[in-house]
Amino acid sequence: MTKVLVVGSGGREHALCWAIAKSPRLEKLYAAPGNAGIAGLAQCVDVAADDIDGLVAFAIESGIDFVVVGPETPLVAGLVDNLEEAGVKAFGPNAKAAQLEGSKGFMKDLCAKYGIPTAAYGRFDEPDAAKEFILRHHAPIVVKADGLAAGKGVILCRNENEAYAAIDHIMTERAYGAAGDEVVIEDFLDGEEASFFALVDGKRALPLISAQDHKAAYDGDEGPNTGGMGAFSPAPVVTGKMALTIMDRIITPTIDAMAAEGRPYKGVLYAGLMIKDGEPSVLEYNVRFGDPECQPLMMLLKSDLLDALEACADGRLDTITLEWHDDAALVVVMAALGYPGRYEKGSEIRGLEDALSLDGVTVFHAGTKAVNGSIVADGGRVLGVGARAPSVAKAQKRAYEAVDRINWPEGFCRRDIGWRAV
Ligand code: AMP
Ligand code: GLY
Repeated sequence: MTKVLVVGSGGREHALCWAIAKSPRLEKLYAAPGNAGIAGLAQCVDVAADDIDGLVAFAIESGIDFVVVGPETPLVAGLVDNLEEAGVKAFGPNAKAAQLEGSKGFMKDLCAKYGIPTAAYGRFDEPDAAKEFILRHHAPIVVKADGLAAGKGVILCRNENEAYAAIDHIMTERAYGAAGDEVVIEDFLDGEEASFFALVDGKRALPLISAQDHKAAYDGDEGPNTGGMGAFSPAPVVTGKMALTIMDRIITPTIDAMAAEGRPYKGVLYAGLMIKDGEPSVLEYNVRFGDPECQPLMMLLKSDLLDALEACADGRLDTITLEWHDDAALVVVMAALGYPGRYEKGSEIRGLEDALSLDGVTVFHAGTKAVNGSIVADGGRVLGVGARAPSVAKAQKRAYEAVDRINWPEGFCRRDIGWRAV
């Protein structure tokens, strides 16, 4: 029997807890810090997801056998290294391997060195040289802060002036702090985006089913970029053949490259891809599950998640096969009005029970808090309203039926999640 700690407090972590809670091997589930939804499945402990020392101390004191790390910040900061030094097993890459997400320049150099397809680029630690590169390369072009910027450090520039302004914003105004000590500037790629996930044990990769996210805030993919306003699985753009191509050209070479560099990768590898004319290229690597993509994936997973995650940490993924429900799942994110800009916290959310009574519906919590027996909004992305059904179209219909039963005037959602697949 296993005592498990899940680190994080988003919809992703609620979905991970929901799946882990089904494991017959689970003795007790904890979450740090968790949220109001996770509290129904796990004991929430008041330690922040980036408090490395606090998390290690809690894991030791409570006799935790296995820690599952949700977000990237603690991974890049070395939580897994610290847990392993303390003798606690953990799911996720160590700090050296987490550089795949922690430094876009590192990721681009690795791809270049090992011939992994990605947009042509330059990396700069000084604004004048970055601007000179723009002069030679022309827009549209993409300017990225090198380090972690909570999903905000990527600026798509339609013309040269926007690119100069982006360089100033990141490097001179230091909008993302030290994450902007360096920039990566790369060619703009068009095509269709997809998220591809694989579990990795240092040597081998086991692909998950495909998913697609909707990054823009408003219907029709309009408005500012967000962490993700909804997701569905499977994604038609990733055909069985495309999945093989992605494994062959991108995932396997990356795992081999990381091992060759003395940074063996363990955990979930999330490739953000652009696919055009049957050719996938890497836009970014993330060293964690996508959020919201993790939510429909967990709704479709039939196998024991705890077994699979532990096999990654133990380096024995060859003992695991993953089974999936032969269905589709779709999750609509409900966010506080104003997100991804300024928003208020504290408004009450009603009707959750009513939504949950629908067949196939699961509601994952993100920024929620329980106050005197009510659920109130406590973040930008607040709920992931999910439905499982025989097709994406049916899952979409059911998920919106559930959304319409939720009474939260201070929130909003996109009405077109899944349009590419319907
Ligand atoms: P990233 O965090 O690097 O994935 O970038 C965030 C979003 O910016 C991606 O999901 C894409 O929509 C977009 N993006 C990033 N790099 C490029 C690129 N080279 N060409 C076109 N769009 C991009
Ligand atoms: N949904 C995009 C991300 O998790 O980065």
